[in-house]
Amino acid sequence: MKYMTTLLAAALTLALAAPLALGQEDVMTLSSAEQGLKDRPPVVFSHAKHSDIYDCTACHHEYDKFMANQGGGEAKCSECHQPSATAKNPTPLTLAFHQQCKSCHLKLIQMKAPQTGPIMCGDCHRAGVPAAPQAKEAKKK
Ligand code: HEC
Ligand code: HEC
Ligand code: HEC
Ligand code: HEC
Repeated sequence: MKYMTTLLAAALTLALAAPLALGQEDVMTLSSAEQGLKDRPPVVFSHAKHSDIYDCTACHHEYDKFMANQGGGEAKCSECHQPSATAKNPTPLTLAFHQQCKSCHLKLIQMKAPQTGPIMCGDCHRAGVPAAPQAKEAKKK
């Protein structure tokens, strides 16, 4: 059953990848300033580089009631993850980002993978990165 779900998700991913690819930036500037969180500089994230390596569902999820990732759900993380934990969604926004980004990079380091990403604060939150409103630009398209 789990195998079927995976196959289905993969098929969906293929079907959705082409049209969605048009609506997303290659390099994104991630910021939670709109959610009132702005202690650190925004994070520059190479979406294209990451999605060349990984399936969309490695990061994007929409869970059914059995907590199986149905794929889709390529919304902003803040659509579901709130600044503080809620009963409906216990993972706050900043933790959601950190848990996803850092734990993958860390796992790769532990596995001695040839390529990984940063795990230090200042290597993701680089001083001097201006907030780019790419979210607004995406909506205009
Ligand atoms: C792998 C990349 C990565 C690393 C390493 C990382 N962060 Fe983040 N962090 C993010 C992303 C992505 C966001 C969400 C976008 C944003 O708001 O900057 C975020 C959000 C935040 C936020 C909420 C937004 C804000 O500016 O208030 C804080 C605070 C924060 N990080 C602090 C830290 C601290 C402290 C460390 C080191 C202990 C750290 N981060 C390490 C990627 C990272
Ligand atoms: C390594 C993680 C990762 C992978 C793999 C990935 N994405 Fe993303 N994607 C993100 C993050 C993080 C964002 C920014 C979300 C935010 O701003 O809250 C994003 C944003 C997007 C957005 C824009 C959302 C918006 O409304 O601004 C789209 C569309 C999208 N991704 C589609 C895809 C598709 C299609 C794939 C597979 C081909 C994919 N992504 C693979 C992490 C990933
Ligand atoms: C459609 C709603 C929705 C969107 C959009 C969404 N999430 Fe989630 N996420 C959930 C739900 C529901 C859970 C499970 C409950 C929980 O642990 O908060 C979850 C769990 C998580 C978890 C903890 C468990 C796990 O799967 O590792 C992380 C980390 C996470 N999300 C990161 C993200 C990131 C990063 C984004 C944006 C790229 C994102 N989420 C977008 C709904 C969503
Ligand atoms: C599933 C694993 C995975 C996840 C999740 C992931 N990364 Fe990465 N990241 C990688 C790998 C692998 C590389 C090395 C890619 C390369 O060098 O070609 C990388 C490289 C990077 C780099 C340095 C190279 C570059 O792109 O310029 C940054 C910055 C980065 N990641 C940020 C993030 C942020 C921010 C998130 C969360 C929104 C994130 N990553 C989520 C696996 C991951």
